[in-house]
Amino acid sequence: MESNSVHHHLPSAIKLLPSLLQKPLIFPFNFKAQKQPRLALLANCSNNGYSNNVRLASPSSTTTSESPEIDWDNLGFSIVPTDYMYSMKCAQGENFTNGQLQCFGNIELSPSAGILNYGQGLFEGLKAYRKHDGKILLFRPEENALRLRMGAERMCMPAPSVEQFVEAVKQTVLANKNWIPPPGKGSLYIRPLLLGSGAVLGLAPAPEYTFLVYVSPVGNYFKEGLAPINLIVETDVHRATPGGTGGVKTIGNYAAVLKAQKAAKSNGYSDVLYLDSIHKKYLEEVSSCNIFIIKGNVISTPEIAGTILPGITRKSIIDVACNQGFQVEERLVTVDELLDADEVFCTGTAVVVSPVGSVTYLGKRVTFGKEGVGRVSRQLHSALTSLQMGLTEDKMGWVVELE
Ligand code: COI
Repeated sequence: MESNSVHHHLPSAIKLLPSLLQKPLIFPFNFKAQKQPRLALLANCSNNGYSNNVRLASPSSTTTSESPEIDWDNLGFSIVPTDYMYSMKCAQGENFTNGQLQCFGNIELSPSAGILNYGQGLFEGLKAYRKHDGKILLFRPEENALRLRMGAERMCMPAPSVEQFVEAVKQTVLANKNWIPPPGKGSLYIRPLLLGSGAVLGLAPAPEYTFLVYVSPVGNYFKEGLAPINLIVETDVHRATPGGTGGVKTIGNYAAVLKAQKAAKSNGYSDVLYLDSIHKKYLEEVSSCNIFIIKGNVISTPEIAGTILPGITRKSIIDVACNQGFQVEERLVTVDELLDADEVFCTGTAVVVSPVGSVTYLGKRVTFGKEGVGRVSRQLHSALTSLQMGLTEDKMGWVVELE
């Protein structure tokens, strides 16, 4: 049953946030009529005064025209409430229309909302980077739109069109542009959400859906920063099963890994690597990212077959590696091959390219690259981030520039 696809140098009415953040609604933006947010007309939704550990102790500004007072050198991966979010609704069986920017804040849901009772929800993740010339860059946002649409089909939800998705992301980023870290200090993480917001009691798709986009400035995902992470291979708990929802970005996939992740962290590991639930020997993915192994000139990663997430960073790294002359294989990868690899790294929007320093399997710890960042992982990280930050020419047409 083993498959082996080889790429040969191919291009390719509940308050969910502190109520002090609640601000009155502002001017609606009709998607068709309004292509760019008219920031001058937006209400002042500044969150500058909100206390957060990455902000300086005494914020002086209360307007959106001034930069928020953030300690850009100490960004991690935790929520920093920003000024605006985007919201768009749609009834079951209809299309999304009339999206609008509004102040970032709590949302109100019926206790019987589909998302709260039956987990009818999906999310996405992408990033905006600021260039030295002030331009703002997005990376392949239409890929996130397509993945959301694929997930929505699996979860019986209507989804915004690719154009609506990308426009919502652009508007949200531009409205919050003061929150994009300076070049080299991090990025603005963009979190689109699609949720069953209508009330249901019997098990059924919700009658109404909400698409939201909010953003938060972020730094490195792992506390290790750019240093290699330490993974433990989980042999009992599985993230996904064939025929399940492991291949879409539904919220429940992430709640399902929290227990194993918590145990791993309390034992000093950075995160958990899951195996397939049938044979218990093929690699699947890490809690929040995909995995790659390197042996000689061959880079291998688990194939997309319904139980792992089709990562956009994964897909991009495959193309970058092919362009650099590596042979890239998407196939079943065994845990034995992992333990025998020259280098191992993870990919994801949040983690970017994270080198793996060690893997522990059944009590045995194997280290890679003398626990420093391996040469190939470093090379691929640098190639990808240079593209994302606009430091190298984008021959792939992946970068979307916002003025
Ligand atoms: C991302 O990389 O954007 C993700 O969605 C992972 C998330 C668990 C932080």
